Amino acid sequence: MGKVFVNGSTIFYERVGEGRKPLVLIHGFPLDHTIWAPTAELLLDDFDLILPDLRGFGGSFSSAASYSVADMADDLAALLQTIGVQSAALAGHSMGGYVALAFASKHPYLVESLALVASQIAGDSPEKRESRYQTAREIQEKGASVAADSMTAKFSANPQTQAALREMMLRQNKDGMASALRAMAERADSTPLFSMAEHPFVLIHGDADELIPVERAREARTLRPSAPLFELPGVGHAPMLDAPQQTAAALRSLK
Ligand code: MLT
Repeated sequence: MGKVFVNGSTIFYERVGEGRKPLVLIHGFPLDHTIWAPTAELLLDDFDLILPDLRGFGGSFSSAASYSVADMADDLAALLQTIGVQSAALAGHSMGGYVALAFASKHPYLVESLALVASQIAGDSPEKRESRYQTAREIQEKGASVAADSMTAKFSANPQTQAALREMMLRQNKDGMASALRAMAERADSTPLFSMAEHPFVLIHGDADELIPVERAREARTLRPSAPLFELPGVGHAPMLDAPQQTAAALRSLK
């Protein structure tokens, strides 16, 4: 467990595992690194696991009024450099996947391979962008419960998972949530990067994902047939909680 001070942010992280290869597990919105716990436990012998909280979430803070997904990626690059990791595999869940793609674009030499878990490569449509700005305003007015009330059931049909996610969402900072929504709205389209990058990619996606449909992963794969797609039957938007064994097995392909 530790904290680094980089780019005007305080970045909290956990580092566990006995494996040699560093693997950074990047959480999604509006969550923190603890979402990875059931899957991380299964990977302790395989990787040197680094689990950061992105700025604005968990134990991480930023003094900036607004920032981008690329800024979040820069925080993680600075974290790796500060703790002496020269290159790593990255696995990003949903928004964490957007951060992983931005990281690969800005810091390609720090990346060995990538996994996109319940994520997508394209940017937002104008309508989606508008709805994120609207949700950001509502969260700032009414608090984290706006996200918890509208998103929890869409992550998973499992009541236990829903309860864990709700609790995790409710402890997040509303300004961090609103900033992340605006950052996601303005993120780059990573389709060219995904199509052309030299890094190996792995796609992991539940076929019952209501937030980012599995079709997004199938479409991505047509652009990069060498990337294996691990489709998890009956699994929703939180494979690391609902299918930790299968998620861990797929992540071992990054070894
Ligand atoms: C996430 O789980 O990180 C979000 O659903 C991603 C998004 O809203 O695009």
